[in-house]
Amino acid sequence: MSPSIQKEIETLRREILDHDYRYYVLAQPTISDEMYDKLMVRLIELEHQHPEFITPDSPTQRVGGQLMKEFPSVMHAVPMLSLSNTYSEDEVRDFDRRIQKSLGNEQYRYVCELKFDGIAISLRYENGSFVQGATRGDGTQGDDITHNLKTIRSIPLRLRQVNKAPHTLEVRGEVYMKRNDFQRMNEERQLADEKTFVNPRNSAAGTLKLQDPKVVAQRPLNFISYFLHTEDISLISHHENLRLLRELGFPTSQHTKLYNSIDGVIEYWKEWERRRDELLYDIDGVVVKLDSLHQQKRLGAVAKSPRWAVAFKFASRQAETQLNVIRLQVGRLGTMTPVADLEPVFLGGSTVSHATLHNEDYIRELDIRSGDIVVVEKGGDVIPKVSAVVKKKRPHGTKPFKFPNECPECRSRLFRLEGEASYYCENSDCPAQVKGRIEHFASRGAMDIEGLGEAIVDQFVHLGFLKNCADLYDLHTQQSVLLSLEGWGEKSVQNLLDAINESKKRPFGRVLYALGVRHIGANIAQLLVDNFPTIEQLIAASENDLQSVQGVGPRIAKSVIRFFIDKHNQRMVHRLKKAGVQMRSTKKHVRSSQQFSGKNFVLTGTLTSMTREEAKQKIESLGGKVVSSVSKNTNFVIVGAEAGSKREKAQTLGILLLDEQKFLTMLQSE
Ligand code: IVH
Repeated sequence: MSPSIQKEIETLRREILDHDYRYYVLAQPTISDEMYDKLMVRLIELEHQHPEFITPDSPTQRVGGQLMKEFPSVMHAVPMLSLSNTYSEDEVRDFDRRIQKSLGNEQYRYVCELKFDGIAISLRYENGSFVQGATRGDGTQGDDITHNLKTIRSIPLRLRQVNKAPHTLEVRGEVYMKRNDFQRMNEERQLADEKTFVNPRNSAAGTLKLQDPKVVAQRPLNFISYFLHTEDISLISHHENLRLLRELGFPTSQHTKLYNSIDGVIEYWKEWERRRDELLYDIDGVVVKLDSLHQQKRLGAVAKSPRWAVAFKFASRQAETQLNVIRLQVGRLGTMTPVADLEPVFLGGSTVSHATLHNEDYIRELDIRSGDIVVVEKGGDVIPKVSAVVKKKRPHGTKPFKFPNECPECRSRLFRLEGEASYYCENSDCPAQVKGRIEHFASRGAMDIEGLGEAIVDQFVHLGFLKNCADLYDLHTQQSVLLSLEGWGEKSVQNLLDAINESKKRPFGRVLYALGVRHIGANIAQLLVDNFPTIEQLIAASENDLQSVQGVGPRIAKSVIRFFIDKHNQRMVHRLKKAGVQMRSTKKHVRSSQQFSGKNFVLTGTLTSMTREEAKQKIESLGGKVVSSVSKNTNFVIVGAEAGSKREKAQTLGILLLDEQKFLTMLQSE
């Protein structure tokens, strides 16, 4: 036994807990991610050497537990009630009148909170440690999902200020996913041909049901608390409970407010109905709670809802409408996306007449049929989705949807690859694909050809001017034909040709992305170009070469190989190159390094072994960036002799300082 090791372990845990609190609760981190990682690495190292000191509430123990076929059931110590819903000022005033009546002449206050659109969970703490977490289930009994909940970094495994904390306590709140995280996750899943989720809420719910905590740990889940129960200390009011929750280390909402009258509550509701899109996560209303716990107790509950609280919901962004027909949309890669043509319906500020149906499995799972009455949903993002079928309203004579076996555009046979969700049209000359590829090529993030939008691409493909992207650079030879087209004049033709010419300046990374290779988004394209700076090198790269790039897996590598093996693609690339499109990286060859790549460096003071300019070149040659001032985005500050204020600033921000010797060691290790 080594008391000093044990001490160090405990100190590290306390520090990490404190940084988690600063990050997740206060939203004011005081150290860089690197510093945080260093603490964690040290703790892992010590625990590895001394497994006898590992405790279940150590921050290293977030991902663990065995795979389970089924979650065990747990009884809730206090039933998890739900809220009754109100939708209008009148209904909320009725609620207020009932409260007033029950309390006689007593004073009372309301706490207003946001109604988070996530999954309600309950957490149990004993002796300051998280011991069990469960879903709501039927309110009395839920699923024990402790191992999944432990992976959520905003759920503390240990309470802060344990001496202040009650011996046992029950904390409730919502697990949710931020809209941007949800979107990013779905994009990645789509690229990997995995099933996408309908909205952040479903995505959080689906994740909590997974049997493997390792997978859960990779999903961007968050927690926010709004309820505390304990019998160990006497609690007075809900708003003080929220404060206590925060002190104990739980994230709480910044937008909670106290009101003396129902008028204030109504203003709060109006304000958040207006401002809901400013939030990073979805809310579907506000929650109004009587503040005094004593008064709450006197009012009690009816059936499964308390009398002292109510949900005041926003007008829905869901609507029911008829699905007239399911048709297929052909993407640039030949992917068939089923789309619902809807009876137009007003929803979330605009009229919706189409919605995505994702893929065949999604349609089958929900059994969506032409003629059905469906629920259309508009989330924080703009593309509406069909999220459910109203089976009770299904008209007679509808038939289950059968995926067509031919492409609606070119009549070619459709196929579906083993393990993939989508059908493809195998004819790469299919006009819908040709149009899609050229539109993508010309789009803003790719070659950015101004004025070459969908309508013009459609027209030119239809007229036979464009068969692939390389044809764009031959358009100038047809100037007189273009001029004879209806709607085109000298100026518009010239502008378009200029824009096409201008696009030859786009850097190679953008060109590669523009080519539209399956699974190659803008970031991966840049990564490939950084490692294979000329098109010849990229074409010559083997699957192994490609996979040696960090971030490039077998799926991407195969896709690159498949693209460049194709004779048509080879010819197109050759023509693009001949036309003057950039096919080599103008950046000096950058070897990406784990330590340097993508990192921001600041140099301060005088170095003895090299000039600043030399240091800068070395950092840049390894993929790092040198910036002039220290900010929270700085990763390393290299401190030479007589360093000044930058050093101090870095210290206050908790950024890693490197002296010259350490910097040289880092360079040598490359
Ligand atoms: S309090 C007894 N507060 O709404 C009151 N619930 O139908 C228990 N919810 O299951 C809930 N935000 O999933 C409360 N600020 C909030 C909430 C909230 C969202 C959800 C929760 C609950 C449902 C109530």
